[in-house]
Amino acid sequence: MTVLEHLIADMPKAELHLHIEGSLEPELMFALAQRNKVTIPFASVEDVRAAYSFSRLQDFLDIYYAGADVLRTEEDFRDLALAYFDRAAADNVVHAEIFFDPQAHTDRGIPFSVVAEGLLAGMKDAEAKHGLTSRLILCFLRHLDEDAAFATLAAAEPWLDRIEGVGLDSSEMGHPPAKFANVFARAGEMGLRRVAHAGEEGPPAYVHEALDLLKVDRLDHGNRSLEDQALVTRLARESMTLTVCPLSNLKLCVIDDMRAHPIPTMLRQGLRATINSDDPAYFGGYVNDNYRALATAGLVDADDLILLARNSFLGSFLDDAAVATHLAALDAAAHHYQPSR
Ligand code: ADE
Ligand code: ZN
Repeated sequence: MTVLEHLIADMPKAELHLHIEGSLEPELMFALAQRNKVTIPFASVEDVRAAYSFSRLQDFLDIYYAGADVLRTEEDFRDLALAYFDRAAADNVVHAEIFFDPQAHTDRGIPFSVVAEGLLAGMKDAEAKHGLTSRLILCFLRHLDEDAAFATLAAAEPWLDRIEGVGLDSSEMGHPPAKFANVFARAGEMGLRRVAHAGEEGPPAYVHEALDLLKVDRLDHGNRSLEDQALVTRLARESMTLTVCPLSNLKLCVIDDMRAHPIPTMLRQGLRATINSDDPAYFGGYVNDNYRALATAGLVDADDLILLARNSFLGSFLDDAAVATHLAALDAAAHHYQPSR
């Protein structure tokens, strides 16, 4: 291993952009299909992996929703979550704020309670097994309408004390944040945190809407913000956290080469960028693979890697005391790697 690879492995970190349904590995997909007697359109695990070639976000989403069909019972959601947390813990993730897409399940007849209870049980397991803490973020599917989002928020009511916030994901183009301004306002009144995918494929105007109309606490992706200098200045001034996903960007053709990834520009412009895996089972790697991809492409040095891990705690929804504890542990782990200190 190189020095930077050792550093990446040794740094405690938080993961802030992870779709739990996107952590469904082909092996588990097959096991659940068998357990639930569900037929899937693939003959083997290799067959599934071979299908993971995408030229845009929608190509991926079609396969992602099809794969989620094997998830039927509370036990399935619990197994899914724990499988992710096992992988995350191996990457020294000490805290994760995970997305779930309830409408991808309720629309095919799986009750909200099955999804929520299963995931919450997996989160509890992870804390007992690895000491890994986590929070749950309920995402509205933006290709559906705002009434459906309101219905989902209503279905979530009994669990809202265990749900940290709401997010917005799925097909970005043609589904601007403005479409969900009312439901996000309601979520804010209910004391929920707000995040949204914006500027992954969509224009800088969508990022403006996420800030001004959805009043987000954090921005998911945000890559295309760089096309608007006034927006970049604002994001930096407001210390807005961006949850950036390098391998996802490459797989979904947001960039055509890792060497062209915007992370160095983001850091240079003073943006609070973080590194995340998005949908690791589909994009070829978990969080440390994402940090390593940047290092291998020559885009980051030790100081940058430490700053990115630091930002992951600063951008989390943990309280100040927990953030301080994690930052002290990060400093202790990273100390030897900083040639500048
Ligand atoms: N759902 C799962 N992953 C997503 C992504 N990267 N963008 C939008 N919606 C998603
Ligand atoms: Zn995402």
